Amino acid sequence: MITELAERIEQAPALAGLDLTGKTAFVTGASRGIGKAIALALAQAGADVAVSCNTAGELAEHVSLTIRNLGRHSAYYAHSIADPYEVEKLHSEIIRDFGHIDILINNAGITRDKSFKKMTVEIWETVMKVDLDGVFLVTKQFVDDMAERGWGRVINISSVIGEVGNFGQVNYAAAKAAIIGFSKALAREYARKGVTVNAVAPGFIRTDMTASVPEAALDAIIKATPVGRLGTPEEVAAGVLYLASEHAAFVTGHVLDINGGYAM
Ligand code: NAI
Repeated sequence: MITELAERIEQAPALAGLDLTGKTAFVTGASRGIGKAIALALAQAGADVAVSCNTAGELAEHVSLTIRNLGRHSAYYAHSIADPYEVEKLHSEIIRDFGHIDILINNAGITRDKSFKKMTVEIWETVMKVDLDGVFLVTKQFVDDMAERGWGRVINISSVIGEVGNFGQVNYAAAKAAIIGFSKALAREYARKGVTVNAVAPGFIRTDMTASVPEAALDAIIKATPVGRLGTPEEVAAGVLYLASEHAAFVTGHVLDINGGYAM
């Protein structure tokens, strides 16, 4: 019997378990950068994908169109994840269009950097509302339905900054560290219900978010990164794809570092 199993595995196409055909996914902040790469990777693996962002939506519409051109179902939504009322609306529109969501990627996030001395309550709250409250609000809408269906994946995009801190990012570091605690606690609550909850902690990735970082600072980051470069959104998406797949059914409460060795 063990030999039979071994033969079946040998004959199976490589990493067949990464096939997400028949699954539905929702990616927040998918109009560009890491979220866009994740949405496209999930669609390439066969999933139908809902994408959202908080702006007018032209970019998200383009991502959605690209996914439809791959032959998958897709739609885009423009709502802020920081607003409980908008998140409720977002949920009902997605359920109306997709029926249910199997894979939730909490990716949307912002930075508002200031040294602690200059950090106002308003700047603190702005980041906390999007980067942390947003993850809570969106997850709350979708996770119980996953549990009722007996299968689900929640993947939260944290950051290496939540693990090691950074000058001028007390708000962002606090929110991203909190996402790790949130993911571990939720993983314990839902593990027996077929829902895994994991965090991904990217290092410095070339996107609009890092575009405003001065070149000299980026050079210093690259010097401190053993791999010797910034990462790409696609490299983060590859890790997310694994966690979303059948292969990762026994992985929960984990923090996957994708940072070129910047922190280990
Ligand atoms: P980005 O700035 O290129 O994209 C952010 C996305 O979030 C956009 O689609 C934007 O519309 C959306 N968004 C912002 N505020 C929102 C709100 N209130 N409601 C709904 N959507 C909103 O950022 P990037 O670089 O692609 O980052 C994606 C995630 O990865 C973020 O959570 C970020 O903190 C995290 N990350 C990024 C790293 C990097 O080096 N770029 C490193 C580590 C983590």
